[in-house]
Amino acid sequence: MAFYSWKQEYSVGNDLMDKQHQVLIEMINKLHDAMKIGKGSVEAGHIVIEMIDYSVMHFSMEEELMKKFGYTGLSDHKIEHKAFMIKVDEFRNKINTGSFTLSMEVANFLKDWLTNHILVNDKAYSKVLK
Ligand SMILES: [Fe+2]
Repeated sequence: MAFYSWKQEYSVGNDLMDKQHQVLIEMINKLHDAMKIGKGSVEAGHIVIEMIDYSVMHFSMEEELMKKFGYTGLSDHKIEHKAFMIKVDEFRNKINTGSFTLSMEVANFLKDWLTNHILVNDKAYSKVLK
């Protein structure tokens, strides 16, 4: 069984956003698996970097969509996205300076953050898309 699986209840009612959330979930799974089989910080570090790039793209598309539909919670939502990027960037900096070994806690943090973000913040904008 996968560490993290997308569920129908995560749907925000937009196929593209759902697909992008599924890709992020897959990346978190990859990160988890890399650590589980002891692939160490090199591989895990690459996955984190890949995830940063993908998150930047995904967040900006999501924000564009919210703007297009006149979602009033956009600025608060942007703050959430920014806080996430700061946190993940912190992981990357620590990896780069060799002062940090990725652990299961990182995978758990990412899983918890994304699940909560989808269910609370993304679900909130999904109402205006309908
Ligand atoms: Fe979001």
